[in-house]
Amino acid sequence: MRLILLGAPGAGKGTQAKKLVSKYTIPQVSTGDILRAALKDETALGVKAKAYMDKGELVPDEVVIGIIKERLVQEDCKVGFILDGFPRTVNQANALEDTLNKLDQAIDHVLEINVGNEELVDRLTGRRTCKDCGAGYHVSFNPPAKEGTCDKCKGKLYQREDDSEATIVARLKVYSDQTLPLTDYYKSKGRLTAIDGVGSEEEIFSRIDAVVSC
Ligand code: AP5
Ligand code: MG
Ligand code: ZN
Repeated sequence: MRLILLGAPGAGKGTQAKKLVSKYTIPQVSTGDILRAALKDETALGVKAKAYMDKGELVPDEVVIGIIKERLVQEDCKVGFILDGFPRTVNQANALEDTLNKLDQAIDHVLEINVGNEELVDRLTGRRTCKDCGAGYHVSFNPPAKEGTCDKCKGKLYQREDDSEATIVARLKVYSDQTLPLTDYYKSKGRLTAIDGVGSEEEIFSRIDAVVSC
């Protein structure tokens, strides 16, 4: 199963990708997570990406396309994958198409998770993530049992640096300017399904699962 999760910052791509990973045992490939890991390790890639991520801008296409080309040929992606946060431009989508053609693979479903801007801002400003296992929380919508501590592994929760209000506004604008054109791109290829992204995490998962399981 090869899936793309499209959706604005805060739409729930990461949250739903993790549920798909548990049910279908295929890897989540998140360019945002890969870039944040590089940033944490202070690799050359991380240093380059930081300037863009801090401003809420997109990291240059050639950088993220390079990351994806390397990632999709790894062993665990042979059985499928869930792309979370890639592609984000038409140029990236074309590069993905080329890469998959060479591997004799194709995307099965593109799921666009739709949530209004006001709720996106609420979700992002309250997001917390476990520094050890990556589990996601929200201070109001999905709080941990003990404030600041992961329920699953007792790791410390942190707030992403780009989840400040000013950077969120920039990210939402970048999304509508540069990523929204992918809706028509995938619609014209007949592969897009729009998913109502408002409701409980479980409700949204069943909407997604109804599409991918058939
Ligand atoms: P990236 O990490 O991809 O961030 P993003 O697209 O801004 O998306 P988010 O991770 O913020 O949101 P999400 O949809 O995963 O939401 P989540 O499930 O966490 O990218 C970061 C940066 O890296 C970019 O700005 C860019 O600089 C760079 N980058 C990455 N990929 C790139 C690419 N391809 N090209 C160029 N640059 C790239 O949920 C959010 C919150 O809501 C959580 O707190 C969660 O608990 C809560 N929540 C989830 N579902 C629900 C629900 N149903 N109800 C209530 N709350 C909910
Ligand atoms: Mg995410
Ligand atoms: Zn944890």
